[in-house]
Order: sequence, then C-alpha cells, then structure tokens
Amino acid sequence: MSFRTTPSADYVEDVSPGRGALPPRAWYASSDAKSLSLNGSWRFRLSATADAEDDSFAAPGYDAESWAEVAVPGHWVLQGDGAFGSPIYTNHLYPFPVDPPHVPTENPTGDHLRVFDLPADWPADGGAVIRFDGVESCARVWLNGTDIGEFKGSRLPHEFAVGQLLKPTGNVLAVRVHQWSAGSYLEDQDQWWLPGIFRDVTLLHRPAGSAGDFFVHASYDHSTGEGTLRVDSDVDGRVSVPALDIDVATGEPVTVAVEPWSAESPKLYDGELVTAGERVPLRIGFRTVVLEDGLIKVNGKAVLFKGVNRHEWHPEKGRALDLETMREDVLLMKRHNLNAVRTSHYPPHPAFLDLCDEYGLWVIDECDLETHGFTEQAWRDNPVDDDRWTPALLDRAARMVERDKNHPSIVFWSLGNEAGTGRGLTAMAEWIHGRDASRLVHYEGDWDCRDTDVYSRMYASHEEVERIGQSLDGGTHKRRGLPFIQCEYGHAMGNGPGGIADYQQIFERYERLQGGFIWEWIDHGIKHPELGYAYGGDFGEELHDGNFVCDGLIFPDRTPSPGLVEYKKVIEPVRIEADGADGTVRVTNAYDFGDLSHLEYEFFYSVDGFPTGAHTLAVPQLAPGESAEVKLPTAAPDGQGEEVLWTVRALLAADTPWGPKGHEVAWGQGTVAARTPVSVTASQRPARGEHLITLGPGTFDARSGRPTSICGVDVTGLRLDVWRATTDNDEGASWQDDTRYGVLWRKLGLHRMQHRLDAVELGDDALTVRTRVAPAAAEVGLRTEYRWTSDGTLLKLTVSVTPEGDWTLPLPRLGIRFGIAADSAREVLYFGGSGEAYPDTRAASRLGQWMPDIEHMQTPYVRPQENGAAADVRWAELGGLRIEGVPEFWFSARPWTNEQLDAARHLTDLTPGDTLWINLDHGQHGIGSQSCGPGPLPQYFLKAEPAEFSFVFSNHE
Ligand code: GAL
Repeated sequence: MSFRTTPSADYVEDVSPGRGALPPRAWYASSDAKSLSLNGSWRFRLSATADAEDDSFAAPGYDAESWAEVAVPGHWVLQGDGAFGSPIYTNHLYPFPVDPPHVPTENPTGDHLRVFDLPADWPADGGAVIRFDGVESCARVWLNGTDIGEFKGSRLPHEFAVGQLLKPTGNVLAVRVHQWSAGSYLEDQDQWWLPGIFRDVTLLHRPAGSAGDFFVHASYDHSTGEGTLRVDSDVDGRVSVPALDIDVATGEPVTVAVEPWSAESPKLYDGELVTAGERVPLRIGFRTVVLEDGLIKVNGKAVLFKGVNRHEWHPEKGRALDLETMREDVLLMKRHNLNAVRTSHYPPHPAFLDLCDEYGLWVIDECDLETHGFTEQAWRDNPVDDDRWTPALLDRAARMVERDKNHPSIVFWSLGNEAGTGRGLTAMAEWIHGRDASRLVHYEGDWDCRDTDVYSRMYASHEEVERIGQSLDGGTHKRRGLPFIQCEYGHAMGNGPGGIADYQQIFERYERLQGGFIWEWIDHGIKHPELGYAYGGDFGEELHDGNFVCDGLIFPDRTPSPGLVEYKKVIEPVRIEADGADGTVRVTNAYDFGDLSHLEYEFFYSVDGFPTGAHTLAVPQLAPGESAEVKLPTAAPDGQGEEVLWTVRALLAADTPWGPKGHEVAWGQGTVAARTPVSVTASQRPARGEHLITLGPGTFDARSGRPTSICGVDVTGLRLDVWRATTDNDEGASWQDDTRYGVLWRKLGLHRMQHRLDAVELGDDALTVRTRVAPAAAEVGLRTEYRWTSDGTLLKLTVSVTPEGDWTLPLPRLGIRFGIAADSAREVLYFGGSGEAYPDTRAASRLGQWMPDIEHMQTPYVRPQENGAAADVRWAELGGLRIEGVPEFWFSARPWTNEQLDAARHLTDLTPGDTLWINLDHGQHGIGSQSCGPGPLPQYFLKAEPAEFSFVFSNHE
C-alpha cells in the first residue's frame, strides 16, 4: 500500500534535479551590480521527518521568535551543542536502506528563516536572483510566501529569479532543508554526512542588460608565444584587457603575444566584460591543454602532477569554509611544493578555484557524484546506469562546468568518484566534451577509458604502476594510447604514507606516468570537548567507519603532519644530490616549465651534526630537466674523527605571493667524512654484591641481570622490545586479509611477549644475560643476549638476537626500551635525522643536531599509534645520559608506554606519567599505505633474522 500524509514532500524522493532553478551559468562577482549577502544568523526549527510541519512558516508574518538560531553558512548538526542531531561518518555504506530513490521516514529536516530588507540604494528596476552555493542535500525555497522551487545537488549552485517578489523591507526567505533525499544516493562520498545550508546565500541584482553566462576562451600557442582570447557571452558586450591592448566585441577572437598561465607561473591578466547593464571583472590565464603523443600537455609540454586530494574541511565548521581557511590550504600546498589538486569529490567553493588561478595549482575539478554504496549489491540498480537518473547526472555535470569554466587552473573535468560504470556517466562525458573541448575528462572508475581522456587509477602498487609506465599493462586499445595518473595513492591515514619516494621515482622514470594525487589533504576530525577530535563512531552512529575519515597530510587544525613534510621533499622541484665523494653536487631542475632564477642557494658543512658557517653557492641557470655539477667552493673542515657533512639549501631569492624570501624549496646533503664510532675497551670485571651486580658505571639487579642504574641515572624495565602501537597502515584495510601485519602480529601475540631468563653470567670482562623472548602459545621465539662491558667510564650494551622457529611474519620493531624519571628529561639533544621517519618515510629526515622537547617528539595522530621515531641517530643525550649507537639507531621517547599508546583511542586518553619510556631501535618495519593500498615494499620489511647492535652509555653531565 502506498500512503503519504503530505504529498508536498514527494520531491524529496524524486530523482529529478529539481524545479524552478535558472539554468546554470558562470559564477562571478560583478563590479557594479549590487548584491546582498544573506549569510548570518537564521531562525531554525528542526523536525524529525520531511513532512512533520506544513509550510505556514514560509508565509510573511509568521512568528519564529521562539525558534533557535543557526549560522548560515553552516551545518546544523555542528551547531546547538548536540540539540540538532549529530554528524554521521560512513566511508561508502549508505546510512539508510538501499532502495533508491527512497529515503528513511526519519529524515531530519531543518526549516530556515531569514527576514531581510533591501539596502536603501538597491535599484528599483531590473531583476534579481537568489543564489545558493551549497545546501545538503535537498532544499525547498519560498520567498515572501511564494514557493519558488526546490533543488538537489549539494555542492553545486542553484539560482532562482526573484525580482518580481522582492519588497523594500521585510522580505521573508524560507528554506526547508532535508538531510536525506534521492540526491543522497548520488552523494555517497567518504566523508561526514552534514546537512545544512553550508555555503553562501546571496541576493544578486540583475540590471537590465546585465551579463548572463559567458565563457572565456583563452588559449596559448607555444610555437608562436601568442594567446588567443574570445569571450562568448549570452549578452553582447565588449571585452577589454588593458595590459594587452585588447578591446574587442564579445564573440570576436583576438590574438596577441602573451605570457602563458601555468601552475608554476600563474600569469593572470585583468580584463573586463562590459555589457549594457553591467561590468564584470575577468582574470584571464592563457593556456592550452591537449592530449598529444599519448601525453597530457599544457602549453606544449608534458606535465608531472604532484598533487593531493582535497576535501573541504574545518574541524568546527565542517564543509562551511571561510576564505582565509581556503587560502591557508593553497599557501600550505604551494609551500610544500605541490602543483596540483583534485577537488575530491565535488566542486569546491568557487573562491578556492580563484585562489588556484591566482597562486598556481593544476586542478581536477570533480563533479558531485558518488554511488559507492551500490558496490555492496554488486552495483545493481546503480543510478549511473539507470536512465531515470540521467537528467540529474547531466544537471550536475552542467552545474559544475558552467560554474567553473572560466578558471584557467582547471585542466580536467572529473565525472565523479567511485560510481561504477554506466550510461549516465557516458552521457555526462559526451555532454562535457561537447561543451568544453579545451579540457580533458577524468574518471577513475572507467578502466577501459571509454569515456575518459586519461587512464586513472587509485592505490595501484608500485609494481603495477611501473608496468603501466612500460605500457605492459594491456587494457583496451584506447587505454593503451592514453597517459596515466594515480588520482589517489599514498593513503595518509595516521602514520604515513610510506613508499611515496619510490612512487615518485617510478613516475619520473616513464613518460606515460604523469604523476599522482596523495589521498588526502586533511584529517576530517571534529573538534570535541572530551575527545580532542572526534571521528566515526564518536557520535554513537549505528554504522560507521571509525577513523578512516582521518587520513590527511595535515591534522584537523591544519598543522602539517610528517607525511606532508615527506611529500614536500619527495616532490621538490630542484634536486640536489651528491655526485661522487669529492664535494661535487649535482643540481637538477625538476620543474616542467620554469628556470631556477627565483632561487638562491646556501651551503654549509657540519661537524658532528653541528653547522659551521653558511656560504652562498652559485648554481648556473638550468632549463627544465637540465642538471649541472657544482663544486662546493670552500674546503671541508677537518672533522678529526667526527662526521663531516655538506648541506645545500635552495631558497626563494625574493618574496613570492605564496612564500617569503628565504623559504626553503629544496635541499640536499652528502657525506664528506664518516664518523669513527666510539669504542669501549672491556677492562672491567663485573662484581656481585648481595642484591646488585656492578660493572663500571652500571648496577644491575643480581637476580634478573637488569640494569637499575646506568652512569648514575636510575633506569627501569630495560628489555628487548618488538612491539609498536600498530599504525593504521599496519592494521590495513578489511579487504586485505592476508597481509594485514598489524592484525597478524597481534594474533601471534607480539604485543604480549614473555621474557624468560635463562642465565646471568659474570665473566672476566662482561656481564651476560641470556633470555628467550616469545609469545604464549607459539613456538617461535627470539633468543636474546644482553652483553654488558665497560672501560670504567663508558658502559656498553650489545644485544644479540637469534630467531627460533618458523617466523613467517616481519617484526614491528627490534630494539630495547627502558624508562627513566620523566622530570629529569624534558628535552633531548641528538645527532640524527630530523622529525619523524620510518624506513619508507625517511626522505625528509635531515641529519643534524636537533633539540626537540619531549612533547614535540610525539606526533599527534588523531587516533594514537606508533609515531615520532627519529632515524639514523648517532647519539642522543637526555636525562643525564648520553647514548651512542653502533650502528645508528631509531630513537623515540614518550611519557607513556607503547602499550598505553596502543590502547588509546583518542589523544585525550594519554596522560604523561612519571616515567619517560625510551626506545632505541635497531630496526623498524616499513609503514606502507595499506590502510587503503599496498603495504610496504619488501625492502622495507623488518625480517626476523639474526641481529646484533650496541649502545654505549655515558654520563653527559
Ligand atoms: C578511495 C575513495 C576516497 C576514500 C579513499 C580512502 O577509494 O575514492 O573517497 O574513501 O578511498 O580513504
């Protein structure tokens, strides 16, 4: 039986895009036509269902005094301290039964009301439109009691003609927003479900003769150096570009010498479109994007994308971003050497694209379309393969293309994400190709490349990418002729992503590979009073995907994570490498277009990690792809047994719009002289007392052989450690069962190793403690011998590990750990690699002496996990101890145990204790990208095999 109480809410489940909206057009801010922002505080009433309330609230005179208020733009679930419901996070599961186009009866519905007066100078003549830049997921609109239409397409603009309805004062704008609608089936992106009017609402005056839609065609011919401009406009007018002496009629092409636009050198020319009734500012960038010789070429050159996927995110405002936050994103990207952004998975706020034009980023603009949840039913009933939905898909494509077509930064239109394949997608691609031949079409789900101009994949392994590079991947005839990009790779969830340097080398090796986009830009953590940042499940969701929503290169507060620092190094546009051992440096220009004239170079030598004076270094001008060998002009200092290194830094020579003079773009290091590791002559004999054994500056518990004090510093719990608080990438994704080492390690019991004491032996010159370290219920184990020696001043520990049994798994880590009093060690001084690094995330680790405090040695991953290791540490000093490694070691120190770290769900679960726990590791397992992609490459596995490593302790006070 079909039964509806209020037929008026039927549009919610209608597959059509809506009713009443004007055709889509270019988005612009007029120079002279008036506009009125309707952002601000609106009256708000929340209902549990779509039809709980009638439409009387939309009538003028309705008294909404008793209603709550919400901020527009905003999401109601992030306002009202929980009074307006909660956010829901699912990756691809629809949080409602899949029965398209039906949605649940429980359909949170927010009535929004705003009363406004026209400004005194609002012209009496002409028309007006109201523009909604983004409403999730479906809205019905009334102005002054008149129903003006309804729409879906959350991250797309919708305009309504309202001139005839406006009054000078007391206009009542009523908007009913439904969380769920047929449109929700098309918006199954991996992100929070956040209803609301989350982008601007604006009233625009439309004078008689105002510009309507227009299309700026600005191409560049690299063989002549000329640009051709033609502005097609619905309303005739003139186009002027003073700097180019252009003044032509709309529709008329003009060709002049220009400087082209590129992400590296984003030259924009200010122009104006003048119609009878309006002046519209234009920012024109001349560039030509083509597919030629199987490559994506811009202005005649193949481009290498060094990109990232960006969702819109703010930890308090969700997807309601202000301009400064958008600018921060762009500046952070530019300062970290990124040159491209995919607007995953919907068109962003238009102001973001203005910033990409201005600062220079290549853009893949993606349509607001994802139907990923249909994968749960083998893609049956997928809307993109059902003609009834095609008008909605074409509407979405048109709203994106028409809104954004005048941005030079956009080189690709993307049909959407993870929507399977189908006739609807083909229809979108055909429409887009017909409407805008000046850009290429992208869609990852189309592995046959039926509809696309590029072969695009996500999370393909290094090996597969290499085969694609060699064109050994097969595929359709069409695909074989196309270039390749990874639209998503390097899953930046928690600690990681690992292996991106290896990808970059492959991208650079094969012409067909035109780079990739890291997944993703920012952790979508929601600021929470008790939890710090909330993720999926923290709002009691029925279905959720936990912290899979926190997988960005920057933390929710936009602090760069080590992953971004690593990426910056991996994609640096100038490579500075050692070239032989004689202090010759090879500098390579890795830009696609530009020379290096905006850079200057500094170099210095360091001795034992400590820099000696800095000098400038002259580097010849290099064209893209060219290298030069540069001899360091001053002789290296004599290190007298200490390690001597050179470091060269490439810095901005002058302020740029995105970075100040002196900003470091790239760096390189090389070794001039290796260190002579400390040696200890075992001259002391251990002596046994009643409870203690003494050996030089060490005392040991006589029964267990464990040290109680080392060089005057009390220590506790020194033992072999193989466990690390599993990272998201260790844990892997649910569909990768056989290689999820985080899960397999725990199953084997590596987090609960037992330490059996076999012998405490006092020799002539050594104390030897023999143990076997193994998990309950398993036959595998690690025979572990701790051998202590001393020359009276120094105390040396040599650890030998011999695996027993059939080890089929790598180890998480291999080293020792011990505790010292936390209040004795607030900071550390060490000589080793800067920042956090692991075997496959160490490109940005720069050798030097560093002095972090303990707090800054912790990386605040939203879900706590192994973090903060420094690589290649030669020596470290803390709490009165100096520790030298033979060989170098991985160093971390934290005011909680690895077990506490492992158990924590949020950072607020961790409170510093009295003991500082220090890990000195001989080995760490790689990080990889398995939380959504391939695990670490084999060369980064920490295999269970015989190992021996030493630490020399001394007192440094
Ligand atoms: C991809 C998807 C993204 C995101 C990512 C995992 O499959 O396109 O939206 O879900 O995986 O974080």
